[in-house]
Amino acid sequence: MIDCTTIPQVSFDEMNRVHHEEATLLNTLEELIINTPIDSDAIAVCLHEIVEHTRRHFGNEERLMKEVGFPAFNMHEGEHIRVFNEMQRIIAQWLSTKDNNILKEYFLGSFQEWLSAHILSMDTITAQFISMNKGC
Ligand SMILES: [Fe+2]
Ligand SMILES: [Fe+2]
Repeated sequence: MIDCTTIPQVSFDEMNRVHHEEATLLNTLEELIINTPIDSDAIAVCLHEIVEHTRRHFGNEERLMKEVGFPAFNMHEGEHIRVFNEMQRIIAQWLSTKDNNILKEYFLGSFQEWLSAHILSMDTITAQFISMNKGC
């Protein structure tokens, strides 16, 4: 489980709210994977919510970066695209196998590690630039 109080905070609050929501969805998925009996339909619904939330999460950051002319837009966007494609590949694998270990390894492991590192690096720098340029 992600302890939401440990999510790195960036200097643009709208982004913090979105990161908190993402962590909450990941915690919901973790409960669904751990609980028995396994409810694959509920897992599928949760995965859909995670994908849609991630799409909005990344899309919103990209919109904000464009609004303020963030110089490293391409690098940040490229990382979003890479991870979003990776997430969709993982979900496609799960849909064809229903092997929950695939979800455990990715959503409870590497994706969470990536998210934390991403917030600490690219999101932190981006949020500083946004808040400087939006004056908040
Ligand atoms: Fe983010
Ligand atoms: Fe980001």
